[in-house]
Amino acid sequence: MRLLGDWLESNSRNSGSRIVLALDVDGPLETRLERASSLVSSLKGRIAGVKLHWFLLLPFGALRLRELVELCHDARLPMIVDFKMNDVGSTNLEVLDTLYSNGFDAVIANPFVGYKEGMEDVVNASHKLEKGVILLVYMSHEGAKEGYGLKVGGEPLYLRFARDTRRWGADGAIVSAKSPAIIRQVRSILRRDQVILSPGVGYQGGDPVKALRAGSDYLIVGRSILKSKDPAGTLDALNKSLETKAA
Ligand code: XMP
Repeated sequence: MRLLGDWLESNSRNSGSRIVLALDVDGPLETRLERASSLVSSLKGRIAGVKLHWFLLLPFGALRLRELVELCHDARLPMIVDFKMNDVGSTNLEVLDTLYSNGFDAVIANPFVGYKEGMEDVVNASHKLEKGVILLVYMSHEGAKEGYGLKVGGEPLYLRFARDTRRWGADGAIVSAKSPAIIRQVRSILRRDQVILSPGVGYQGGDPVKALRAGSDYLIVGRSILKSKDPAGTLDALNKSLETKAA
């Protein structure tokens, strides 16, 4: 079975990058898809993977994104769909069928829905097709502590979600780069082959080096690359600084 973690790791070795590009292209819809494709074309070889969000999925849908997915695959980049899947199993399965039959490689899902008739279906259906599931364990916005940090039975929910990630056999977890102490805790719970992806650097203020040193495997980065006047140059500088500082 092709594991998402192995795929990212192999790309990371080849590109020298721990960055998963958040392809959050905004602005005029008429040119959005074209701009997304040209970003992938200019940044491939400098990243480990691509994360796709509503920015493209909502206006264009899975069918019209097929060429973009192919472009990523030609560059051996996995396309991870981030819509924080959060529904009952039967609905999740229908959505997964559309995504996977159109080439997408992994989804980010919310463990809050629980396993039975929820994430069990998502993990099983995904793995049957060699696709990946990443669970939200601790988000990067300020209010995350009100939900993911809520204490239940004396411990914060994110610890429970980290154990769920391990028990349910998901491919990895999302943990905010702004919370290195939580990354460290989650890392100590997950299996080594379960990856941690961390959003929250750049525009959101998290320190990428601290996140990697705490045990994160990949940084999800959007605006600081996309909004830069020179996305390739900004990415190269980030990759280089991580190579030297996080070693
Ligand atoms: P920026 O522009 O802040 O983009 O570098 C980050 C990307 O990641 C998403 N994001 C998250 N996704 N859990 C997630 O699954 C999180 O805690 C989280 N925080 C940010 C964000 O929507 C954007 O696509």
